Amino acid sequence: MSDIKTYPVPQQYLEHTLINNAQYESMYQASIDDPENFWAEQARAKIDWEKPWDSVMNVDYKKAHIRWFEGAELNVCYNCVDRHLASKADQTAIIWEGDDPKNDLSITYRELHQKVSRFANLLKSRNVKKGDRVCIYMPMIPEVVYAMLACARIGAIHSVVFGGFSPESLKSRILDSDCQVVITADEGLRGGKTVPLKKNADKALEGCPNVHSVIVVKYTQADIAWQESRDVDYYASMEAMSDDCPCEIMSAEDPLFILYTSGSTGQPKGVLHTSGGYLLYAALTHQYVFDYHDGDVYWCTADAGWITGHSYIVYGPLANGATTLVFEGVPTYPDAGRFWDVVDKHQVNIFYTAPTAIRALMGQGNEFVNRASRSSLRLLGTVGEPINPEAWEWYHQVVGETRCPIVDTWWQTETGGILLTPLPGATQLKPGSATRPFFGIEPALLDSDGKTVEGAGSGALVMARSWPGQMRTVYGDHDRFISTYFSQYPGYYFTGDGARRDEDGYYWITGRMDDVLNVSGHRLGTAEIESALVLHESVAEAAVVGFPHDIKGQGVYAYVTLMSGVDPSDALKQELIKLVNQEIGPIAKPEMIQWSPGLPKTRSGKIMRRILRKIASNELDNLGDTSTLADPSVVEQLIKHRLNQ
Ligand code: WT7
Repeated sequence: MSDIKTYPVPQQYLEHTLINNAQYESMYQASIDDPENFWAEQARAKIDWEKPWDSVMNVDYKKAHIRWFEGAELNVCYNCVDRHLASKADQTAIIWEGDDPKNDLSITYRELHQKVSRFANLLKSRNVKKGDRVCIYMPMIPEVVYAMLACARIGAIHSVVFGGFSPESLKSRILDSDCQVVITADEGLRGGKTVPLKKNADKALEGCPNVHSVIVVKYTQADIAWQESRDVDYYASMEAMSDDCPCEIMSAEDPLFILYTSGSTGQPKGVLHTSGGYLLYAALTHQYVFDYHDGDVYWCTADAGWITGHSYIVYGPLANGATTLVFEGVPTYPDAGRFWDVVDKHQVNIFYTAPTAIRALMGQGNEFVNRASRSSLRLLGTVGEPINPEAWEWYHQVVGETRCPIVDTWWQTETGGILLTPLPGATQLKPGSATRPFFGIEPALLDSDGKTVEGAGSGALVMARSWPGQMRTVYGDHDRFISTYFSQYPGYYFTGDGARRDEDGYYWITGRMDDVLNVSGHRLGTAEIESALVLHESVAEAAVVGFPHDIKGQGVYAYVTLMSGVDPSDALKQELIKLVNQEIGPIAKPEMIQWSPGLPKTRSGKIMRRILRKIASNELDNLGDTSTLADPSVVEQLIKHRLNQ
């Protein structure tokens, strides 16, 4: 691919970087040749352990048995907070920037320690113990970080549910992991609008009889319903709590958190991450990928409800003693210059966001960028979906004025941390490529027969060996863990993505190979949306696929077959959109609903989504083999009534 532009490591960068290319190559080789030694060394250097491990790794992909640092003991909260007190008590741990630009806060490591200790005692006062699950349904305020760390401090397992999810989604997540305590706020704020979190939680909890305590941060002071025996006023209770809460000593393999994510079938699954390996991997990747130096101001714009927020707002940066910026707002409020204003206001050095935000801002014109100086910026990053070269170039030229390398980081909820990425001082960049593997990562591409593709070529992206941040199981369903990730290609972890490797060994992600959508960097299962649609009494059947969307990356396209005798109408369309909103949340709303008297099915009744995807994407001359369809004329009908985007 000689016509692809490459960008060498900037000269001024080389003087400042943690590692250059020669160091990357030798460290990478060492991590592959002798992983036990490599990871043991990193673990000793990066983490404070209460007790060392008996074995570094114990992995069997056939049984999906994955263990790291067995026998070792630590506390994750201690590593993220307490151990920094000796040298960094007065350093800012968290900069909070509110939705309203007038609101911000700065929290030192000393203050963080006090808040987290009190919060941990508050949880204990509600009888939360090691191993209990606690659901966190919060806006992006500092208390969401305190809540996560307070759980880690006492060994409770948190399950953060994104504040944009509906009561129905919240309920199913609470029930799946039997959370008995919920932490929420009266309301959240986003883009000048309120989000009724407590009201949503109240609704969800009608179906959750085991929840005995709801800790409520009265943030906006909105009028909310209150159940005296169940609801706990966070601010009032914190005052009475002691600052002293010893850290619970945990095994390296004790669970740290559960985070739900969508798959190609069924309801979202509870991805389980454990303590030692996860923290090591989050901290190490945060340091090297972002070339993090002491004193840097680091900003990841994700929400704490996603894995990016867990690993790269909370655990990675705080384990490294960084200053991490927590942003409550959205990129376009009060206007499309918000990101760059915040960069100037807090002198941000490292900035990490999603391609969908970059594309949206690119469409608003350069004035919003240029009115800010951005001179503090040194490094830019992206995550969550493929970045198109046009958006990459704009980010590089306009936002970073060509002086900031861009790290396009590929990873997943399941991987705990970044697996494919440039290292800013080491890697020559190619716009649109996540480039090369991080230390200890051995990617491979497999063809449709499961054979390894050597050299340049394409295939299913798998990992040939484990890394410390890998998920350990699907909460409560180890069989699902095995069947989803380890059965299609025995001996490998299957990512669900396809990829191409070029002649320089760089990886180019080509997208999901399964029925998972990526809408604005949010992961959605087509099956979940279909289940929501068929709840409507007028709907007989529904099939959902993705279509290319300029800003969101993908949009949701639904083919809906109505019950016989029901007439299609715009009003019905609106009802269906509302239903999806209610069942899952606004991020899952179909952009397009095509009334489809019939769906393309094989003779055995299986819907041929391949064809539906092609029609939705307007790739009509390339439909592939339709001869196995029970009724090929269905396809012509669908094409005739296809909706234009
Ligand atoms: C899926 C994982 C990782 C945190 C955010 C998303 C896609 C992620 C990239 C990238 C191309 C990417 C993949 C992956 N993806 N990063 N840099 N380039 N695609 O986590 O919700 O678990 O989604 O996001 O398809 O499988 P997630």
